[in-house]
Amino acid sequence: MSINSLIDSLSTSGWYVWDDFLNPSQIQVIKNCIPNKLQDARIGHLDSLQDNKSIRGDLTVWLEPEMGDPIASYMAQMDSIRQALNCELYLGLRDFETHFCCYPNGAFYKKHIDNYKGKGRRKITTVLYMNESWQSGDGGELVMYDSADNELLKLEPFCGRMIFFMSEDFPHEVLPTQKKRESIAGWFLTESLL
Ligand code: OGA
Ligand code: MN
Repeated sequence: MSINSLIDSLSTSGWYVWDDFLNPSQIQVIKNCIPNKLQDARIGHLDSLQDNKSIRGDLTVWLEPEMGDPIASYMAQMDSIRQALNCELYLGLRDFETHFCCYPNGAFYKKHIDNYKGKGRRKITTVLYMNESWQSGDGGELVMYDSADNELLKLEPFCGRMIFFMSEDFPHEVLPTQKKRESIAGWFLTESLL
């Protein structure tokens, strides 16, 4: 697992799993900075909360460096990855937006794409998992599909594991979790589409 493997893998297959991206104590100090008040994740501003709940059941809060040094240093680490990706892959990544997500027991996120081609600024999706005592069988797997809708991979949300994938290319879903499931999702953004 390394930045070089990340670059290789993103340019060839479009996704990469980086185990132990952060260690359990780094994850714990980040968690300690997350505000307690989370909001129902939205799928679009015109959708009712009820429509929304049948698609996704997670609660989220956007992260800011002002929330604490552990969050600031996570964002700085992601920014150095952004710069490395720009040097090697010429993706023109300008920014990174990131939020904490909590899926209560029973929650899921139905199959979706993070960005429809040519629509939004999201270019690369990142998800860092924060579940210390996760065991196989707890549900909450991330399932990724290719463009022909064949299942590509089923990933358990183990603590410290991070996945990167091209936001426009992979339909994916979160299967119903049988335990509280915590993560930080983020998106490297291209410059605004004008
Ligand atoms: C998302 C998402 C996947 C995961 O937040 O858009 O698909 O494994 N998350 O949490
Ligand atoms: Mn997604």
